Amino acid sequence: MPPTLTARGAPALSGVVRAPGDKSISHRALILGAMATGVTEIDGLLEGDDILATARAAGAFGADVERLGEGRWRVTGHGGFRRPDGVIDCGNAGTGVRLLMGAAAGYPISVTFDGDASLRKRPMKRVTGPLADMGARFEWPGEEDRLPLALSGGALKAIDYVQTIASAQIKSAVLLAGLNADGVTTVTEPEPSRDHTERMLRAFGAEVGVLPAGRGWRVSLKGGQALVGTAVSVPGDPSSAAFPLAAALIVPGAAVTVENVMLNPLRTGLFETWREMGADLTVSNRRMAGGEEVGDVTARHSRLKGVVVPPDRAASMIDEYPILAATAAFASGATVMRGIGEMRVKESDRIALMAAGLQACGVAVEEEPEGFTVTGGAVRGGATVTTHGDHRIAMSHLVLGLAADQAVTVDEPGMIATSFPGFVELMRGLGADIASG
Ligand code: S3P
Repeated sequence: MPPTLTARGAPALSGVVRAPGDKSISHRALILGAMATGVTEIDGLLEGDDILATARAAGAFGADVERLGEGRWRVTGHGGFRRPDGVIDCGNAGTGVRLLMGAAAGYPISVTFDGDASLRKRPMKRVTGPLADMGARFEWPGEEDRLPLALSGGALKAIDYVQTIASAQIKSAVLLAGLNADGVTTVTEPEPSRDHTERMLRAFGAEVGVLPAGRGWRVSLKGGQALVGTAVSVPGDPSSAAFPLAAALIVPGAAVTVENVMLNPLRTGLFETWREMGADLTVSNRRMAGGEEVGDVTARHSRLKGVVVPPDRAASMIDEYPILAATAAFASGATVMRGIGEMRVKESDRIALMAAGLQACGVAVEEEPEGFTVTGGAVRGGATVTTHGDHRIAMSHLVLGLAADQAVTVDEPGMIATSFPGFVELMRGLGADIASG
């Protein structure tokens, strides 16, 4: 029997925990550190499997990468990427592979990128398209638009890229390539997406221009700017904090505080939505850490009501719809989530898997091509949910199981370590009944 995890109704959850390091910022710290000259000292790095794959890639591209202690890493960059000896295997990490492709494109090297079965299903042309326009060359040994792919970089020219999808991964890949391109690269996005790359490029000494353009921004970067290693303090990941906080909202009598949660407004759409649903969510100890606002977030059990989530909020909570859907299952009325077609090309087709998992647990869900509606009420549970190796699908259903009438089991629980190593132990520490099978 392959391993499983099973969550059962918890008496009440309480306690104070710390959010693991932010995944987006952890990838960027390693990649920019490897592109830079000099030492980048990172603390609070997420030591999830996705990030460890990026750390190995940074080493393969020629940086010296050392682990100094828990979450403490040193990257010594030599001012560029050299040709790696083998294939760069990014595991499950879409952010890792797309940002690394952008970074590598600006150097005169050839490199093959690959990933696990989930990453091999995800579209890559959204990034290789603009990189090819800049002058990088790509070969697809298998299916076009899918990993593995071979990239030959160097001698790029700047482009003005207008994105049709609000994606920080695409924006970041083009900007990282733009660092080594001839001229000024601009990226215009249809809606604002997370701005960690822009912020971190500045911390590494680059000049980045940002101007409003329509509903989004136009970001510009002059090629030929050298990055200089710096200290990076990684704040806690709001996308991971969402799971213990969600559990507190739906388990009667619960109260949980997650400390050190990044509150960048481009990442906190879920908190805004939960508040509209009537969630008792408070933030204390707001402060700046590592160039980002952070705070301690407390959630208490709440009577939630369904809401219509504005589609233009999608980019600020794109990874949080699975856990939003799990909490919406306990709300009175319907929660309508639209304009989220991007969810179908994440680590799995998250609309389809959340709809199937919730339905198996007795929840009413209507699926649409670019969204879904969850109508809340009593949640029966009593199902084994297929996660297709998607960490957020697994964690969302385990949280659901903590407040459902019957236990909920998930398959492939090992994948949780891609973004949230220690999730099960952390939840157990709060009083959750999650058993390995
Ligand atoms: C990320 C951006 C998002 C998100 C992913 C992390 C990033 O993807 O889903 O988990 O770090 O830039 P898109 O930008 O493709 O929407």
